[in-house]
Amino acid sequence: LTTAATALALSVTAGAALAACDDGEIVVKFSHVTNADNHPKGIAANLLMERVNEEMDGTMCMEVYPNSTLYNDDQVLEAMLQGDVQLAAPSLSKFETFTKVFRIFDLPFMFEDINAVDAFQSSEAGQSMMDSMQRRGLQGLGFWHNGMKQFSANVPLVEPGDAEGLKFRVQPSDVLIAQMEALSASPQPMAFSEVYGALQTGVVDGQENTWSNVYGQKFFEVQDGTTETNHGVLDYLVVASTDWLDSLEPDVRDQFLSILDDVTAERNAAVGEVDAEARQAILDAGGEIRELTPEQRQMWVDAMQPVWEQFVDDVGQDNIDAAQEFNA
Ligand code: LMR
Repeated sequence: LTTAATALALSVTAGAALAACDDGEIVVKFSHVTNADNHPKGIAANLLMERVNEEMDGTMCMEVYPNSTLYNDDQVLEAMLQGDVQLAAPSLSKFETFTKVFRIFDLPFMFEDINAVDAFQSSEAGQSMMDSMQRRGLQGLGFWHNGMKQFSANVPLVEPGDAEGLKFRVQPSDVLIAQMEALSASPQPMAFSEVYGALQTGVVDGQENTWSNVYGQKFFEVQDGTTETNHGVLDYLVVASTDWLDSLEPDVRDQFLSILDDVTAERNAAVGEVDAEARQAILDAGGEIRELTPEQRQMWVDAMQPVWEQFVDDVGQDNIDAAQEFNA
């Protein structure tokens, strides 16, 4: 009975989502992996859907699938190239098999805060990165912010030595793997949807993520605490296939891209609030947040920053220099 009821509920939900699109409308499926609410990506995706469905009614119809309900980030880009999904916003760490240019964003302590990230992305060098995968059939359409990453584990993390020997879930990025190795920890690449279970069962000891992901996925419930390291950035690239973009009539494409640009500007400007609310929500829910003294934080910098040398050829010294200019 339970299974039947669940199947019915699922088919009603799916039916309702599909029924919203009329015959003849261009259906745009947007697949992502985070929460739909209280999350920078979830909020931005929903706002984009609302605006497209209102302003392009009769022409285009968007459906958002959050929480890895359609694809996880390991599958979504292949699905996009097959034409099974039209829009996604994976984190910049998830494009490794398509381009290495985004590696600069994974380098620890490269950017001081999200404003520096924003300035770099808005520069000519940053904007040209959106075109870096055209040969592979993917086009970047905009950077969406999330925020700075923090470390959490099942033991208190105060000094870098505390991470030694622990298993940390990382996104599938060689830079992040090298970063954890620099701490003598063991990096375990894993899909986002599997992290909570892996932390809960002890398959991994810790992870690194932003306040909104630590809160949204309830990682803090199965960790000793979260240490405010702000050691790296987690940002997104909104991406579509070049084939799909080319298939749109120019005026339809222009209207869609102009709505997307508006949503990007509006939600990126508000990201600090969403980030701060998630941090506060962790505290309100009884989660432990450890703040570091400047001396303690410097120890993490000293331990992790040498990783830059391993990737300088991939990311370019000129890009590193440009990124540093944007740090206040
Ligand atoms: C992660 O895998 O930790 C993040 O990329 C998830 C996300 O989309 O924020």
